Amino acid sequence: MSNLKEILLKKKCCKSIWFMRQAGRYLPEFRKIRSKNENFIELCLNAELSSEITLQPIKRFNLDSAIIFSDILMVPYALGQKVDFIKNKGPKLEKFNYEKFSNNNVEKFTKQLAPVYEAIRITRKKLDKKKSLISFVGGPWTILFYMMNMNQNRQEFDFLELENKNFEFILNDLIEYLCIHIENQINAGADVVQIFDSWAGLLPEKKLKDFCFKPNAEIVKFCKSNKIPNICFPKGIKEKYVDFNMFVKPDCINLDSYIDPVWASQKLKDVVIQGGLDPNMLLKTEEEMFKGATKYIKAFRDIPYVFNLGHGLLPQTDPVRVGKLINFYRNFNG
Ligand code: CP3
Repeated sequence: MSNLKEILLKKKCCKSIWFMRQAGRYLPEFRKIRSKNENFIELCLNAELSSEITLQPIKRFNLDSAIIFSDILMVPYALGQKVDFIKNKGPKLEKFNYEKFSNNNVEKFTKQLAPVYEAIRITRKKLDKKKSLISFVGGPWTILFYMMNMNQNRQEFDFLELENKNFEFILNDLIEYLCIHIENQINAGADVVQIFDSWAGLLPEKKLKDFCFKPNAEIVKFCKSNKIPNICFPKGIKEKYVDFNMFVKPDCINLDSYIDPVWASQKLKDVVIQGGLDPNMLLKTEEEMFKGATKYIKAFRDIPYVFNLGHGLLPQTDPVRVGKLINFYRNFNG
């Protein structure tokens, strides 16, 4: 078996499976730790616990890769913006202050995130050498979206605002910090990076290039010049996945659940494909779940494909189901 890093670098056809949010609320062992650690950011900054959580799904399911337990919002946190997680309302960030933002520097930023890098070092030592340790960042637009609190004020979310010149400066600075965070995670022992542009689908078509394609392309260029295997996830951009792939040229592209796998297998060239299965499939009957998984396995039979989902595992997922899906994929010979 090859590890994820090798699959991405050599574009190998080889079975490999992991799940987004594999370390999360659907696992009772995670909920146990979480119940004793109310502050989510502080939990992400506890290197020992972060490493323990990262390894929980590996111990339970022997998945092929581990993804470090952290969050994309650790970057705004490290840039001095207070981050709160409000029950049932998601993350809420302190009001953005441009002066405060522009007073950041690399040293300060890296120091704030030191526990994340320590968690990676601890995990790499404990993780089977054959398995990859995945690090991640948010896409620049997705981070900007949260930094401006657009997730909380969707009705006020006015795209005319995107004409604001300051956004260009902020986006460019963000790209730099995101690249530093990637480099630091790789230096600490991560093998691969995934770039989650979760809100790419909200961008109007005429803004997609400037706010999604170009920023992702810069990060991928940085990764390639440093030989860092990279996975892009421009969620929600529909048929623009084709243009994204041609413009950004990532090593691997993660599908969301709206993308038809057969269409993707014909249209997305020179790239490893990952994911796609709707996480809701794990809540249906076993038969439906296996049928859903079969569609993906068959569509990508002859091209490099990493089994995963179109979004994170849902908190209400039964871990037994997760185990069954993994076995189904591993034993599939059809
Ligand atoms: O995938 C993994 O297991 C690794 C850890 C990971 C988390 N968040 C842990 C987490 C990763 C890769 C992320 C990425 C992330 N975080 C994204 C991109 C992927 C996506 O979901 O679109 C985004 C947008 C965030 C921001 C974020 N963090 C939100 C919106 C929330 C609250 C809502 C939610 O989905 O739970 C979080 C909290 C969060 N991040 C939890 C976990 C396990 C839940 C924490 C809890 O309440 O116990």
